[in-house]
Amino acid sequence: MLPYLLHSRNWKYLCYGVNHIGGWVAPQGFSKMQSLRMLGLYQNNLSASIDSLRGLCELKNLRQLDLGGNNLGSYSSALTGLCELKNLRVLYLDGNNLDGRALPLCLSNLSKLETLWLSSNDLGSYSSALTGLCGLSALKSLYLSSNHFDDSSLPMCMGNFSLLENLDLSGNNLSGHFGNSISGLKRLHGLYLGSNQLTDDGISPWMSNLTSLTSLSLGYNKLKGSDTMRGLCGLSALKSLYLYDNHLSSLPMCMGNFSLLEELDLSQNNLSGLFDSAVPGLKQLRMLNLDSNHLTDDGISPWISNLTSLAYLYLGNNTLKGFDPIRGFCKLRDLEELDIQGNSFECNLHPCFENTQLEVETEFPKWSPTFQLYQLLLNNCILNKRSNNQVPSFISTQHRLETLNLGHTFLQGTIPSWLLYNVTVEYLILRGNSLEGPFPMSTEQNMSKLYELDISDNNICGLLPPNIDTHFPNLILLNMSTNQFQGAIPLSLGKLQYLKILDLSENKLSEKIPQSLTRNNTSLKFLKLSNNKLQGSILSKCSNMSELVVLLLDNNEFTGTITSFMLSSPSLIILDMRENYLSGSIPNWLGSIVNLAYLFLGRNFFYGYIPTELCQLQNLHILDLSSNKISGSIPSCLGNISSWMTRIPIQIDRSLGPQFESIFSVGKYSSVDQTYTKVKTNLTTKGTMRTYEGLPFSLITGIDLSMNQLIDSIPFELGNLKELHFLNLSHNIMSGFFPESFKNLENIESLDLSHNKLIGMIPPQIVQLHLISTFSVAFNNLSGAIPYEKQFSTFNESCYTGNHDLCGQPLPRNCSSNNQSQTQDGKGEEEDNNSGILDHPMFFYLLVAISYALGFWSFIALLCNKNRRQKLFRIVDRFYD
Ligand SMILES: *[C@@H]1O[C@H](CO)[C@@H](O)[C@H](O)[C@H]1NC(C)=O
Ligand SMILES: *[C@@H]1O[C@H](CO)[C@@H](O)[C@H](O)[C@H]1NC(C)=O
Ligand SMILES: *[C@@H]1O[C@H](CO)[C@@H](O)[C@H](O)[C@H]1NC(C)=O
Ligand SMILES: *[C@@H]1O[C@H](CO)[C@@H](O)[C@H](O)[C@H]1NC(C)=O
Ligand SMILES: *[C@@H]1O[C@H](CO)[C@@H](O)[C@H](O)[C@H]1NC(C)=O
Ligand SMILES: *[C@@H]1O[C@H](CO)[C@@H](O)[C@H](O)[C@H]1NC(C)=O
Ligand SMILES: *[C@@H]1O[C@H](CO)[C@@H](O)[C@H](O)[C@H]1NC(C)=O
Ligand SMILES: *[C@@H]1O[C@H](CO)[C@@H](O)[C@H](O)[C@H]1NC(C)=O
Ligand SMILES: *[C@@H]1O[C@H](CO)[C@@H](O)[C@H](O)[C@H]1NC(C)=O
Ligand SMILES: *[C@@H]1O[C@H](CO)[C@@H](O)[C@H](O)[C@H]1NC(C)=O
Repeated sequence: MLPYLLHSRNWKYLCYGVNHIGGWVAPQGFSKMQSLRMLGLYQNNLSASIDSLRGLCELKNLRQLDLGGNNLGSYSSALTGLCELKNLRVLYLDGNNLDGRALPLCLSNLSKLETLWLSSNDLGSYSSALTGLCGLSALKSLYLSSNHFDDSSLPMCMGNFSLLENLDLSGNNLSGHFGNSISGLKRLHGLYLGSNQLTDDGISPWMSNLTSLTSLSLGYNKLKGSDTMRGLCGLSALKSLYLYDNHLSSLPMCMGNFSLLEELDLSQNNLSGLFDSAVPGLKQLRMLNLDSNHLTDDGISPWISNLTSLAYLYLGNNTLKGFDPIRGFCKLRDLEELDIQGNSFECNLHPCFENTQLEVETEFPKWSPTFQLYQLLLNNCILNKRSNNQVPSFISTQHRLETLNLGHTFLQGTIPSWLLYNVTVEYLILRGNSLEGPFPMSTEQNMSKLYELDISDNNICGLLPPNIDTHFPNLILLNMSTNQFQGAIPLSLGKLQYLKILDLSENKLSEKIPQSLTRNNTSLKFLKLSNNKLQGSILSKCSNMSELVVLLLDNNEFTGTITSFMLSSPSLIILDMRENYLSGSIPNWLGSIVNLAYLFLGRNFFYGYIPTELCQLQNLHILDLSSNKISGSIPSCLGNISSWMTRIPIQIDRSLGPQFESIFSVGKYSSVDQTYTKVKTNLTTKGTMRTYEGLPFSLITGIDLSMNQLIDSIPFELGNLKELHFLNLSHNIMSGFFPESFKNLENIESLDLSHNKLIGMIPPQIVQLHLISTFSVAFNNLSGAIPYEKQFSTFNESCYTGNHDLCGQPLPRNCSSNNQSQTQDGKGEEEDNNSGILDHPMFFYLLVAISYALGFWSFIALLCNKNRRQKLFRIVDRFYD
């Protein structure tokens, strides 16, 4: 195909995006395409075949050239060819790792260049070499975001771009003092300064000169006071003003000057209201975002209904209480999106500023809004307390509604049939209410538009709808977990062509999994049927779920062996079959599911050896084979699994991100679960818990082989596993020594070797395991002195009991006996002699108390920091956008 393209002289446009075709263009090829006007070579690994770029100078007619994302930084000499392209209007060089020296001086020859993209480079380094830019007098748009600029490294000649209309400097390190250099740009419409270090001072005098600005972005900076805004007062042409994520606590009188303002984003500040005087002027306002401030009812009540052009209104996560939507929103005829959600759960522990006390009454008196919404978010408010907590009836008059979130709004009664079958909603969330009765069925052929339906955590009972595929054919996500559904899973669920995420866990479903659900061409990625009473063999032989990433079937009544169906799921990362009646041996083909990271087979009736093929699972994070009848010895090759030796984060399908958070919350039965809980808590105190997209799980690692019939000694190779967080080998019949190599388990938090037949002493070096918080060697045949130091002095008698020849603290048995000096060469005595303040019990308790307190408060601090992280993600997202 390519040779053909290269010889067709008439091509005016040729675009090769994201192909990794580095090297396709021969220099002579360009000379044959002289009439080409646009050439797109975005993300093509051009640095790999840099010579091909040299022919670019032949394309004299080129108007637009995209060389973005090609890592040309080290090959910038190839860019000199660009200077010949005298007709170029638009040039993309973003994402190329360029520093200041990389842009050739002759670039200033491009006298017609109007748009230049240089974002995401490193032009802040060697910026004094950037003089090539200064001659570009025709520039209208210049994008310099994410370039590590500070006020002094920004090129001072920007004032020469007298035609400049758009300037993007976001994501740098600017405080604002560079501003005088651009304050003369009389045509500037758009100025983007988000994600910098701007201060009130920094932007103060100069910004007010930019009177032609229509769009100003100052989000995620360090702006504080109304002084800031005073500097902005002159900008009366503004249409969009973004001030989200600063520290603003008040707004100035001059807000009313912005009579053309259409978008105002003040989210994530410290505002409590105080707008009254400004409001009459904002006649054009269509978008007002006040999410995550400290607004009170009084702060918004009288004036908000005067903003009659509003279409998008966001008031979520404030301290509203009894705000009356009937009066508040009565004149807002154009409203399309309304968000007054609270964001509850983190506030159970701490008085965060959120709308969780907000009572919204829509029935009494009846609310008949004049607007037609696309989006309505009322989650975590208290809905219709005075009218039986019913679903607001006005929703049935909203004929454009697409997204409706009524999660955790204290709703009661049955789900109204019209809510499912007679509205336009695509995303419907009714999670966490007290809705009861059966799932409403429809006899008519009404086809719903729903993509996502979440009715989880209610008391819905009866059968699952038998003809779900005819009524809800578009479903991608279906969550009916934590209800009282019973009976079989209907065949029709398997006919939902687009279903990717299905959660039916925590119900009373019985019988077999229908074959249709696991059939040949299913698009299921996430299947959770945990905590039901499902029976039969675990999945039929003809199951073929080629997209599957997560399969959770734990706590059911499945019997039989595991068939090799999973071999057809190469993307499988999590497999949980705990607490069933499965038997047979652990299949050795499991070793060929290379992505498998979590394998839970505990609490079944598996027998036989641990297959060495499991050691091929180099991504394994957790292996749970506990409470089975597994015999033989532990394969020493488990000590070679890379994700237990070095930190390897799991690559998770982004579309599944948030679903991962719920996975490990079962936690009711097995001992392993308790360990997760512990690990999770620890992660919380370190600041990673509740982050997005399953991050915490990508860090948890552990092995649980407890309650089996394993014999022989513990392989010393397990000591290689520096990244292991927990290891449980208790309740087996293992003999031999406590491996000295365990001193290398740097990250171990829980180590349980109890109820075995270990002999010899506890290696004193293990006291260097400073993260350990759970430890037991009880009921073995160990002897000698207990290393009672550091973290190990926190473990009490029960961790050592049942070993006849162990001695020293915390056991009452003293080490001075003959027995002791034989095995320990008197070492125990030495340690006793050296004992000082560190061994004093009071000191220890003090330490525990202090660390507990510290941990606890950092936990609280973290919870209330959610917005900050959201913010961070927003920023990062924005950069990638
Ligand atoms: C880019 O090219 C180099 C050299 O040919 C090659 O090693 C590398 O894998 C390529 N990268 C991509 C993303 O294709
Ligand atoms: C391009 O610019 C350089 C100096 O930057 C100059 O010497 C050269 O003559 C220019 N080339 C053309 C074709 O104008
Ligand atoms: C920038 O403008 C100044 C005058 O405002 C002029 O002296 C200087 O030569 C210009 N720089 C370039 C590189 O064009
Ligand atoms: C709202 O508008 C009405 C008339 O348009 C005016 O009388 C009233 O003072 C305004 N209220 C506020 C709080 O601005
Ligand atoms: C369904 O919606 C239509 C139009 O909105 C309405 O006329 C009809 O009464 C609704 N039916 C039910 C059962 O709510
Ligand atoms: C089904 O749709 C028709 C027409 O839109 C409507 O009249 C009827 O009420 C709907 N049925 C239900 C149960 O909502
Ligand atoms: C699954 O699909 C493959 C190819 O598309 C086909 O050969 C096979 O017979 C199918 N299996 C079943 C059980 O339908
Ligand atoms: C499984 O399904 C995929 C996609 O539908 C198909 O390509 C593959 O041949 C099937 N495998 C088997 C063993 O049927
Ligand atoms: C899946 O396969 C069945 C038959 O095996 C077929 O009827 C159905 O259309 C297929 N669905 C998709 C999405 O390919
Ligand atoms: C389904 O809902 C339950 C309860 O609300 C929740 O814990 C779980 O994370 C949800 N599952 C998915 C896949 O979203």
